[in-house]
Amino acid sequence: MRIFGRVAVCGVISEYSSAGRKASPNMLDIVYKRISIRGFLAADFLNVFEDFFSKTLDYLRTGELKTIEDISSGVESIPSAFVGLFKGDNIGKKVIIFVRFCFDTFQAIDGAVIGKVVASGNAKFQKDDLVLGVFTWAQYSLVKEGSILRKLESSEFPLSYYLGVLGFNGLSAYAGFFELCKPLKGEKVFVSAAGGAVGNLVGQYAKLLGCYVVGCAGTQKKVELLKKELGFDEAFNYKEEKDLNYALKRYFPDGIDVYFDNVGGETLEAAVANMRIFGRVAVCGVISEYSSAGRKASPNMLDIVYKRISIRGFLAADFLNVFEDFFSKTLDYLRTGELKTIEDISSGVESIPSAFVGLFKGDNIGKKVISLAED
Ligand SMILES: NC(=O)c1ccc[n+]([C@@H]2O[C@H](COP(=O)([O-])OP(=O)(O)OC[C@H]3O[C@@H](n4cnc5c(N)ncnc54)[C@H](OP(=O)(O)O)[C@@H]3O)[C@@H](O)[C@H]2O)c1
Repeated sequence: MRIFGRVAVCGVISEYSSAGRKASPNMLDIVYKRISIRGFLAADFLNVFEDFFSKTLDYLRTGELKTIEDISSGVESIPSAFVGLFKGDNIGKKVIIFVRFCFDTFQAIDGAVIGKVVASGNAKFQKDDLVLGVFTWAQYSLVKEGSILRKLESSEFPLSYYLGVLGFNGLSAYAGFFELCKPLKGEKVFVSAAGGAVGNLVGQYAKLLGCYVVGCAGTQKKVELLKKELGFDEAFNYKEEKDLNYALKRYFPDGIDVYFDNVGGETLEAAVANMRIFGRVAVCGVISEYSSAGRKASPNMLDIVYKRISIRGFLAADFLNVFEDFFSKTLDYLRTGELKTIEDISSGVESIPSAFVGLFKGDNIGKKVISLAED
């Protein structure tokens, strides 16, 4: 697929029998290429029937649309015709419509950084200005012309907030939840890696909207934090669950409306199995699949069709158009104390590698920040 590609899942004939290999799309492709996958049933679109019908009639009249039919006769031919569908015996059916319509060794690693200008050859930036951008993991970085760089004004909140709750983690949570999932008050929301930088904010936004929210995380300490301090309705330790599918049934007896996916793998499979009809999945990340050891998600494609589930990958950078809205609302929530900030701060350049590896082991609680100097 190209970037922003769309997949309409009409059917999955190769998976209808238990012998068929189940689809296991590359979830990293889905995130980075912001691919949408959506199952549907024709019956959902009776509202466009008139439009479809008159346009198709016109195409047939002008000969722009050709019909390919494969007709057999007699009731007795029905079973073999049906079995033949799975062997590819048919050519066309009643009507077929063709619509036009890893890091290099020795290379410095980049990350989101807040720094102070030491010297500048660009008139827009002066010595001692505070800037936010993507720099290397180092005490001093050379920022090339054309790099993403934003000047920060002094603020009532710690600078680290601009890397997390008021930065791209916050925007990921806000845009992925509100813009992609279009949640409604009272809907049932599930968030994975809920003790991480993005997940904890998704759960808090969902609670502020009036949703029922359940998060999963990898330690009891995180579970307690989600329930007691961040207001999640429920939380559970996924490492203690033998069967995630069963765990989700316990917390969502009537099913999930919105799943905010940070981990992929079997959590995504279990969530899809428990989604309600017209459920929405925002795929923010698939941390369990980043290393080759992780099991790749293989959600049940039949569920996606029959429950008309939408699964959509995204990058926060796609939603710069809602940045102002996100920023001002989040600032208000922080000022009133309705939104809490969870940070996990270590200091010194030497702590960066272990902090990074720790993200994959669940060492961090909330946004992992490395401090190289005082604010
Ligand atoms: N699309 C975007 O624009 C965008 C932006 C930011 C981040 N992301 C992605 O969003 C996801 C969350 O990011 P974040 O910054 O919130 O995370 P984070 O703060 O870096 O925390 C990651 C958490 O993921 C959990 N985890 C690690 N390995 C896991 C596994 N194998 N299975 C289940 N959980 C695992 C760990 O918590 P536990 O204790 O719960 O295991 C860990 O603390 C990541 O996948 C990240 O790559 C995407």
